[in-house]
Amino acid sequence: MPAQGSGPSGFEAAGAVGSVAVRTFAERQNTQRIAPTQTLNAHQSMDGHQVNAMAGDRSGETPTHFADYDELPEGHFYDPDAEYEPDPEYAATLAPDAARQRRERIGPTGRPLPYFPIPGPLTDHGPAKIIAMCNQKGGVGKTTSTINLGAALAEYGRRVLLVDFDPQGALSVGLGVNPMELDLTVYNLLMERGMAADEVLLKTAVPNMDLLPSNIDLSAAEVQLVSEVARESTLQRALKPLMQDYDYIVIDCQPSLGLLTVNALTAAHKVIVPLECEFFALRGVALLTETIEKVQERLNPDLELDGILATMYDSRTVHSREVLARVVEAFDDHVYHTVIGRTVRFPETTVAGEPITTYASNSVGAAAYRQLAREVLARCHAE
Ligand SMILES: Nc1ncnc2c1ncn2[C@@H]1O[C@H](COP(=O)(O)OP(=O)(O)OP(=O)(O)O)[C@@H](O)[C@H]1O
Ligand SMILES: [Mg+2]
Repeated sequence: MPAQGSGPSGFEAAGAVGSVAVRTFAERQNTQRIAPTQTLNAHQSMDGHQVNAMAGDRSGETPTHFADYDELPEGHFYDPDAEYEPDPEYAATLAPDAARQRRERIGPTGRPLPYFPIPGPLTDHGPAKIIAMCNQKGGVGKTTSTINLGAALAEYGRRVLLVDFDPQGALSVGLGVNPMELDLTVYNLLMERGMAADEVLLKTAVPNMDLLPSNIDLSAAEVQLVSEVARESTLQRALKPLMQDYDYIVIDCQPSLGLLTVNALTAAHKVIVPLECEFFALRGVALLTETIEKVQERLNPDLELDGILATMYDSRTVHSREVLARVVEAFDDHVYHTVIGRTVRFPETTVAGEPITTYASNSVGAAAYRQLAREVLARCHAE
């Protein structure tokens, strides 16, 4: 076992494990593909730290990106850090602390990947931070991210309320609720004075996570709200009595920038913008940021863009990597370090009516949303 922290930098530590063929940063830039076993053995040999190694000697095989494995092997947990070796040049700038060096690797966004600690338990709950999951572009992963971020936060002991704010009711469907059978939905909560939130709330199968469901009725609200007094803050008023009961309220917006979305932005403290890693990803984002700024100026000065979440990322395609690089170029530190890979597991979860964290708890997708939850919590705590 090589001596830890013996050198002035991580460079020597990395060199010491060079015997197991750690790639150089330059090589990685060229290939972007890493042999997981080699990397992981390298990390294990540095301090015996438990990482999610693929068992067995795969040295004869073509290097495969870790995210190619849909299921993690039994008994292994996902550590996204484990995919990346330290960049020697970068590591040379770090303090001689082997544990820190191991963590600070280049992530898929091309920036050093920080370590997001597992959040400790809470002794009391509330008041809630409200997050709007928003992008007027359709099919970018808003609903998938709402369900799975919510479920991951709930797994970490946070009390979570999900608000289905899309008349399509996809969030409700994704949690096993049939929107057509609902008598009361978020529409009633918005439009009927005196309607108690408790009457509309549904418990989900995930402990600590509740749902305000919706169905096609909500599309009428968009029209009816136009003549209301303070029509943009209707949702904010409806959520007020629930604030003390939850730690996080996540609103799944519809794919438009209409009055419902403006209501969600007015109620929210933070916005998360999911972006699909494909060619037109950035189209329309300027309009979205303009809308966020207008809401900030006129209705909700507390509103902040928490982050841009890259979704449906496929590390095997140059295209995905290029789009992600463009997104980071445009939004810099606003882009979450956590990137959600493309996997068929997500459409499957919609059919199953449950989050990926319970449907395929050991999957890479579940691990990615758990990491996102830790990153979101870390950003909140950093304030
Ligand atoms: N990471 C992913 N990998 C593969 N498929 C995904 C991923 N995320 C979401 N999907 C699938 O893509 C489709 C669109 O996702 P989702 O419904 O979450 O997007 P949305 O932004 O909420 O769409 P809409 O704008 O219609 O509300 C769904 O079928 C979903 O299962
Ligand atoms: Mg949706």
